Amino acid sequence: MSTLQIRDLQVSVKLPDGARKPILAGVTLTVRAGETHAIMGPNGSGKSTLAYSVAGHPRYEITGGEVVLDGEDVLAMSVDERARAGMFLAMQYPVEVPGVSVANFLRTAKTAVDGEAPKLRTWAGELRGAMERLHMDPAMAQRNVNEGFSGGEKKRHEIVQMELLRPKVAILDETDSGLDVDALRVVSEGVNRVRDTGETGLLLITHYTRILRYIKPDFVHVFVAGRIVEEGGPELADKLEAEGYERYTAAAAARD
Ligand SMILES: Nc1ncnc2c1ncn2[C@@H]1O[C@H](COP(=O)(O)OP(=O)(O)O)[C@@H](O)[C@H]1O
Ligand SMILES: [Mg+2]
Repeated sequence: MSTLQIRDLQVSVKLPDGARKPILAGVTLTVRAGETHAIMGPNGSGKSTLAYSVAGHPRYEITGGEVVLDGEDVLAMSVDERARAGMFLAMQYPVEVPGVSVANFLRTAKTAVDGEAPKLRTWAGELRGAMERLHMDPAMAQRNVNEGFSGGEKKRHEIVQMELLRPKVAILDETDSGLDVDALRVVSEGVNRVRDTGETGLLLITHYTRILRYIKPDFVHVFVAGRIVEEGGPELADKLEAEGYERYTAAAAARD
């Protein structure tokens, strides 16, 4: 059973003029396989920065702390090595990959992560099944990744990837944003299928509470101004729904 440990993680973003802007002010979080953690916070609090830093985006500079997956130092790994170690990031804004079809992209990703090509005999069926479960038109397999996809299609493609790659830890950055209620349900069912395998730890980053009606978190972490300011169970999400983030943002402003 896998465990991701984030300890006192401090991160600055590199600005185009070479300056550094501190964003994460010491984040500590442990995610075990089978657990679902919701990170909830207002816009600009650093949620995507946390996701990108753990995934290894070069724009973010780690200035302190550590990230460890099953005893291995994640911060010492390249982005590819992180993926092979079992880390998966569904981006808030999935990028287009011109000239690469969905089918080729997924096969290449699966080959890279597993260290060997998936069996030709079974792969086509697996791909078709995963797309069907996410209500993606099979014809989309031949389209270029994310090119001309609607917001909902991009998010469903991310979940298809997650189901096929079977990561140890998956970070889903605002996978609910921009989805209508039907797409939200289909995407949530996909996330729940992965959760129910018990083999993946989920870090669900979200601004709104509505996805948590479909995906029940075991733990909720309130994230404000680059740090976790409160932690609890699913009841904390209900409290946020009712009260919003203002109480926390006011406290953070007073502290700074
Ligand atoms: N590449 C960047 N250049 C400048 N500022 C950035 C960059 N990335 C993030 N930031 C800043 O860091 C803060 C946190 O951003 P982000 O992690 O995207 O927050 P969230 O995902 O919670 O909305 C914001 O103030 C944002 O403007
Ligand atoms: Mg974000």
